[in-house]
Amino acid sequence: MSTFGVAAAAMPRWSLAQVDSGIMYHYRLTAEPAETELVPGFQSSVLAFNGDIPAPVIRAKQGQPVRIEFTNKLDEPTTIHWHGLRIPIAMDGVPFLSQKPIMPGETFVYEFTPPDAGTFWYHPHMNSVVQLGKGLVGALIVEEAIKPDFDIDEVLILKHWHLDKQGQWKALTRPRYAARMGTPGEWGTANGINNPTLSYRAGSRVRLRLANVDNTMTYNLRLKGVSAQVIAIDGNPVSVPFIFEQHKIGPGMRLDLGFIMPETTPDSGGVVLEYLRGKFGFPLVSFIASSAPLLKTRSIPRLAMNPVPVPDLQAAETIPFAFEWEGAISPVGKDGKTHDTFWLINRRPWQGMGPGSIPEPVADLKLGKSYIFDLKNNTQYHHPIHLHGHTFLVFEMDGKAVTPFYTDTVLLGKNGRAKAAFVADNPGSWMYHCHVIEHMKTGLMGYVRVS
Ligand code: C2O
Ligand code: CU
Ligand code: CU
Repeated sequence: MSTFGVAAAAMPRWSLAQVDSGIMYHYRLTAEPAETELVPGFQSSVLAFNGDIPAPVIRAKQGQPVRIEFTNKLDEPTTIHWHGLRIPIAMDGVPFLSQKPIMPGETFVYEFTPPDAGTFWYHPHMNSVVQLGKGLVGALIVEEAIKPDFDIDEVLILKHWHLDKQGQWKALTRPRYAARMGTPGEWGTANGINNPTLSYRAGSRVRLRLANVDNTMTYNLRLKGVSAQVIAIDGNPVSVPFIFEQHKIGPGMRLDLGFIMPETTPDSGGVVLEYLRGKFGFPLVSFIASSAPLLKTRSIPRLAMNPVPVPDLQAAETIPFAFEWEGAISPVGKDGKTHDTFWLINRRPWQGMGPGSIPEPVADLKLGKSYIFDLKNNTQYHHPIHLHGHTFLVFEMDGKAVTPFYTDTVLLGKNGRAKAAFVADNPGSWMYHCHVIEHMKTGLMGYVRVS
C-alpha cells in the first residue's frame, strides 16, 4: 500500500481488513451502519464495509487464492459481488442466480483465485440504490504476479454522495431522473474526501488507479499539469499505452494512469485531476510535489497483458442487443407494489427475481464459443453495459474500428454503438446490465446463460 509521500491528514488510513492466519490473502469484512464525517463538520449515517469510509482496499494477487469472510451486519439481506473478476459463478455474489441472499447476522465465505491483475472493485448486488448509494463500495486490487516497479500506487475511488451541505441525505433516486440520466449526488469525493491533496516526491513514477464507484455519474476525466499515459482500462492493461487527454468513465468503470510526478510550485497550480462538465473542470484530487529532492527520472513501467482468452472473430456468432426507453409502465409486482420500468433490453424489461422465480436469460451461449455482442443504445442517455464473469474485447465503437481493448463494461454514449467480443468460457448464469444503478433497477438488466 502506498503510504510513501502521502500528505498527512489528506488521505484516509485504509482500514485493515486483513486477517493474520497463515493464509496470505485472508480478509474479514462486514457491511454495517456507521456514522462518518463526509461533509466537514457534519456526521452522516452511512452503510460501510467494516464501518469505514472509504472501505478497506482488498489486495489480492494474480493466481493466488483469496478468502473473504463476509458478515452481514445490516438489517436487510445482501450479497457481495467482485466486479470485473473472472471467477466461478458460485462466488459471483448475485442473489438467487448464484447464491442465496446473506441474511442479517449471517456469514458467507467467498473464496476465489483471480486470474487477471488490475483495478477492480466490490459492492453488494441487492437493494443497490441504497446499499451502494450509502457507501458499500470498495476497491479490490489484484497485484500482478510480477509487480511492476512504480514508486507510488494510489487507489482513488470516486463517488458523489446524495448529501446536502449539512451532511443530510437527499433522495437517492427520483423517478423523473431514473427515467433519464439517473439521480446525481452533490458532494463529490475521492476516497470519501472532497478534493484531497496528495504529495509525492518529484520524479516519482506514479500509478493512479481510478475507480468510478458512483451510482449515476459518468466522469469525463482529465489531468492538468502533467502528461500522463493510459495504462489500463477497467483493470485490463492496454496493449499500447497512450497519452491521456480526456476519458469518460461511467459507473463501475476504472482507469489506470501512469505519470512522472513533476516539480510543482504554489503558483504552477500543481497537478489536478478534474472532471469536466461542458467547458468547466471540477477538481477531484490535487497533487503537489513534496519538498524531498527530485528522484532521478526513470520511465513508466509497462504492464503485462492479462490472460483473457482471445475471441475468434471469424467464427464468432453475432448477437444484437438494443437498449431502449419506454415510458413508465409501472407494473404491479408480485409483492403488490408498483415498480417503475423505464428501460428495456431487446424489448424486455427485467422482471425481478426471487427464490423459484428466475426469468429467462437474454441469451443462451455455448460454452467455449466466441460471441460478438452488437450493442446499440437507442436512447439519448449514456449506459455503461457490464457483463459478469467475462471480459469483452471491444473492437468497434460508434461504427468505427478502434484499437481493440479489454473491458468488463462498455460505455455507450447517446445513440452509441459498440461491438464487444468474448469467449463464453465460464459456465453459469451471468448478470448483464447497465451500471447506472437506477437504470438497472428500472429494467436495464438481464443475464446470459453459458452452458
Ligand atoms: Cu458492478 Cu452486476 O456489477
Ligand atoms: Cu460485475
Ligand atoms: Cu443505463
